[in-house]
Amino acid sequence: MRVTISVPGKVSLFGEHAVVYGEPALVAAIGKRLTVSVEGRPDKLIKIAAMDLQVPGIVLTFNEESPEIIVETDYGMVVSAVGYVRKAIEIVSEYLGRRGGVNVAIRSEMPVGAGLGTSAAVAVGTVAAYSILMGEELPFQEIARLAHETERRVQGLASPMDTSVATYGGILYIMPAAQQPIEKLPTVCDLPMVIGYSEREFSTSDLVKKVRALREAYPEIVSPTLQSIGKISERAKDALASGDLDTLGRLMNINHGLLDSLGVSSKSMNDMVYSARFAGAVGSKMTGAGGGGCMIALCPGREVEVSTAIRIVGGMPFRATVSDQGLRVESVET
Ligand code: MEV
Repeated sequence: MRVTISVPGKVSLFGEHAVVYGEPALVAAIGKRLTVSVEGRPDKLIKIAAMDLQVPGIVLTFNEESPEIIVETDYGMVVSAVGYVRKAIEIVSEYLGRRGGVNVAIRSEMPVGAGLGTSAAVAVGTVAAYSILMGEELPFQEIARLAHETERRVQGLASPMDTSVATYGGILYIMPAAQQPIEKLPTVCDLPMVIGYSEREFSTSDLVKKVRALREAYPEIVSPTLQSIGKISERAKDALASGDLDTLGRLMNINHGLLDSLGVSSKSMNDMVYSARFAGAVGSKMTGAGGGGCMIALCPGREVEVSTAIRIVGGMPFRATVSDQGLRVESVET
């Protein structure tokens, strides 16, 4: 039996890092996906083929007619995602009380390990595909929970943000402390975004630990900073509901400044963030854990200018749309 699942990547619109400490965050699934295929084997081995899982090279396709760049990845075998696959299989096996041998193949149409939620996508895809292979089609809530547990065990600390959005798609408001921690928001307006990518120097786990150390050293400064980020997410939720892009842009700028103050941005990131604003973005910020990786610019009507500006400072721009499609079973072949 072979099961193939596809899962969306994500951008965090607001609240990364603060969400790890219980603050609210807003996160959106994007129209670029990662695919996990699993196939049973007669023995108990786990074999993982990770085709696209790091970022030493990127295949770019230019279309003369349109300024848009199509991004594909083809990176060879990679170690980091393998940890998430193994842990997800271990956790699902514990949950089901049985384990089977499995061949796992992963492909991605977005840069992996760049802050687009690909480790969560790997975890969600593996949990969903492997559980079907083992004869159990789990509800989304259970998949999201087991995938979050996977991230938590691999990273030490993790919020449910990335694994939830990879499972459900759309735009999610995450309130870790609430009774109902995840609210899927209606998509009331288009969010014309450009994502800028630059090479990532640190892992999510390094950056989460860095913020934790800063918070331990300066609790009276860092805790209010994290709380302010949470307040930004609350305001942004209202702005999103009324389609107020100018407010969203301003909130992105404040959010970026606060993340920079926590030491999770970088020079190449800040170059992209500021060049996007100079080129007419209504707001821009780093997205995800930081340490290089991706930024987002909200730039209605200025996508071309913003893309050019990002390219000039050495980043790689690509357009993104919010996608309502979460985890999807692509095929089950017996
Ligand atoms: C990573 O995409 C987002 C962080 O907030 C970590 C997490 O939420 O688990 C940095």
